[in-house]
Amino acid sequence: MATVRHFIFSVLVVSITLAEGYVEELDDRFKEMRKSEPWLVQFYAPWCEYCKTFDLIWYDVASELKSQGSHVSVGKMDSTVYTDAVTEFRIRGYPSIIFPFVRALSSVRLFQNVLSRHQIFFLYVGGRSPLKGQFYKVASEFILYNYFFSATVDALPQAVTLQDVPSIAVFKDGSYDIYDEERDGNLSSWVDRERFPGYFLMDSFSLYQMGERTKLVAVAVVDEKNPSAESIRYKNLVETVAMEYRDEYRTSFQFGYVDGNDYINGVIMDKLPMPSLIVMNMSVDGYYLPGSTIETIEAFVQFLDSILTGRSELLGGNGFLRQIKRLYYRATSAVKTSFASAPFGTCFLISLPLVVIGFIVVGICTAERVDDEKADDGARPTVTRRKRAALKHSEAKKKD
Ligand SMILES: *[C@@H]1O[C@H](CO)[C@@H](O)[C@H](O)[C@H]1NC(C)=O
Ligand SMILES: *[C@@H]1O[C@H](CO)[C@@H](O)[C@H](O)[C@H]1NC(C)=O
Repeated sequence: MATVRHFIFSVLVVSITLAEGYVEELDDRFKEMRKSEPWLVQFYAPWCEYCKTFDLIWYDVASELKSQGSHVSVGKMDSTVYTDAVTEFRIRGYPSIIFPFVRALSSVRLFQNVLSRHQIFFLYVGGRSPLKGQFYKVASEFILYNYFFSATVDALPQAVTLQDVPSIAVFKDGSYDIYDEERDGNLSSWVDRERFPGYFLMDSFSLYQMGERTKLVAVAVVDEKNPSAESIRYKNLVETVAMEYRDEYRTSFQFGYVDGNDYINGVIMDKLPMPSLIVMNMSVDGYYLPGSTIETIEAFVQFLDSILTGRSELLGGNGFLRQIKRLYYRATSAVKTSFASAPFGTCFLISLPLVVIGFIVVGICTAERVDDEKADDGARPTVTRRKRAALKHSEAKKKD
């Protein structure tokens, strides 16, 4: 028992020190750092006892954000040392948290800098207005995954021309689009539709996010470690269609590529060969596969059109039987993957409940045994019966 406790204790210590690593102790350089990245900052004082308790929560927040793939950085700042910042952010008590999620671009140079650093970002242009209020509200909704800035017209380069001010624009794919309430619906759903580049490398987190979206996901599934000529061709095909047919398909499809088939195998519950082209309806775990190998852009476009017109058959889905199969698939593949990566840990975790169940079963058999024994005069040693019963039970378990 002592060793188990020690084991658990050291795991806790290790995970806390790891999480601590995600919280940066900030100094004067924060003034520059916060121009390019969004920061969630705790102001503390060394004498504040509650701040020390709060640190544990803060480490948790940082590691949770990290594991969600967020670009938001987490830091803490000693208020007794950096009094300029305390004045700037009007900090009055400890701990205080600041999270400036819409950052102002005050010059063309800053705008160009943001443009070169981010594949996609949203920008509000103009002064005070109700639209600005909406923009801030929506920014707070999506800040963990996207970048939001504000600027005045004179901070924009010549190449960006706006019909109206105030306006909201999304910059991506080497171009920009302006939000139009009449055409695009409310701001929140527009940002949600536009917040991914037209074509990009999707990791499991972005695929997971696609489940809540109203677009079909059209991807090349490739093995980036062994890129074959075929996989490069597939990627080019998807990218070309994403860019050249942008206006036709942007409301229906999200394009991209995926490195490895693990996540997708889990969705389709089958082994997808690599490279492949697949279109998925992530909200129902359904998918479409082309009938034959796709060689040309025209063939790919035809495939996409056949999906939109309902001529292509939706495979998979989340009907009742599929859901049962999914439960089974998830259970078995979870065991398989964790076994491959951590065999001892997995054995330990799997055997733990069995051992516990084993104890309970032994207890019950013993209780029954008392009456039995009286009846048949204790002809056989108790322990054998008990052992046999436990054995029977564990065999039954194995069959399950
Ligand atoms: C925006 O529109 C979506 C769908 O059209 C709706 O679900 C959502 O509630 C709307 N949000 C607001 C703030 O009106
Ligand atoms: C996904 O499938 C469901 C059920 O067939 C359908 O209602 C939904 O519109 C589909 N989603 C997309 C993005 O086509």
